Amino acid sequence: MKRIGVLTSGGDAPGMNACIRAIVLTAEHFGIEVVGFKHGYYGVLNSEHKELTPERVSNIIQSGGTILHSARCLEFKSDISGAKAANCLDALGIEALLVIGGDGSFRGAHHLGNFWNKPIIGLPGTIDNDIVGTDATIGYFTAIETALESIDKIRDTADAFERIFLIEVMGRHAGFIGLSSAISSGSDQVLLPEINSDNQIALSNIVRRIETTREVKGKCSYIIVVAENLWPGGVTALASTLTEEMGIDCRPVVLGHVQRGGSPVAQDRLLATKLGAYAVECAMQGKTDIMVGEQNHQLVEVPLEQTWSGQKELDPYLVRIQTELFDIIG
Ligand code: ADP
Ligand code: F6P
Repeated sequence: MKRIGVLTSGGDAPGMNACIRAIVLTAEHFGIEVVGFKHGYYGVLNSEHKELTPERVSNIIQSGGTILHSARCLEFKSDISGAKAANCLDALGIEALLVIGGDGSFRGAHHLGNFWNKPIIGLPGTIDNDIVGTDATIGYFTAIETALESIDKIRDTADAFERIFLIEVMGRHAGFIGLSSAISSGSDQVLLPEINSDNQIALSNIVRRIETTREVKGKCSYIIVVAENLWPGGVTALASTLTEEMGIDCRPVVLGHVQRGGSPVAQDRLLATKLGAYAVECAMQGKTDIMVGEQNHQLVEVPLEQTWSGQKELDPYLVRIQTELFDIIG
């Protein structure tokens, strides 16, 4: 193998750069050139690429974002684009493609496999941690830290005024950031898609929990972590409803894209480095249509189609702690 390609696609995540670096350094070790495609699948279709040498990836392990930039390339879903991408890769002499991204990017990688008969390997990079087959995704640990740091700060001011705050965290369809940041910040309630199914949140239940806490502790601060997309209109609408209809004064905070940025924490750098190196070795062995991941500290290879099958489960014991063991009215 002489030349491989790499791209980052979908929502960027801290640690993507560490992963690119690991791919380039490992490839260099085996005498393989690396071509980086910019803007996800757009870069393949439009020949937007650059050679990635060890010099080019030095000093990026600590930076957030992605030096290859990312994009959502909707046209890539078509067969015409799949075939065009295969031609573009062949024209550049690419012998394997490594795709760092989330489940959407993996669907794209699998789609490409219908038109291109060379190794295609997915590397899980998303803050959402919603990919089946790996315990964690690159970027998830940093996103928890970022959310946690903000929640701790909000707690300070909430405490000073004994106020109630609703804090919205990211996670398109998954409550991993919500649950982890709520537990580690000692938040009082958490509203997640996996627990509050069908978006049916009982307003009276939220109110009952707040009131019971205040009966026990007196007037005190109260933090509710809410996953995005759970409440129509988000925490701003939920806070107005609680304030207007229930007579409870609440402040909303949307953490938003701040959770996607920043220097990756050590756990993300380690995961990114391990998976980046391993993906190169898998590609050299001719493996394809797989994601490389980690389960119980062991490197694993998972068929791409499995990575988006079903819903990845939250840690059931953390859920029990939050919803039963620590629940004031449970
Ligand atoms: P993520 O990878 O973070 O889940 P998206 O779901 O937005 O992000 O997907 C990223 C990109 O992957 C899309 O913009 C598109 O280029 C590609 N993609 C997603 N689904 C498919 C599909 N079914 N077929 C081909 N490409 C896809
Ligand atoms: O997939 C990662 C993620 O950050 C989700 O948590 C969030 O819903 C989404 O991307 C936001 O995407 P966009 O880049 O379109 O704002």
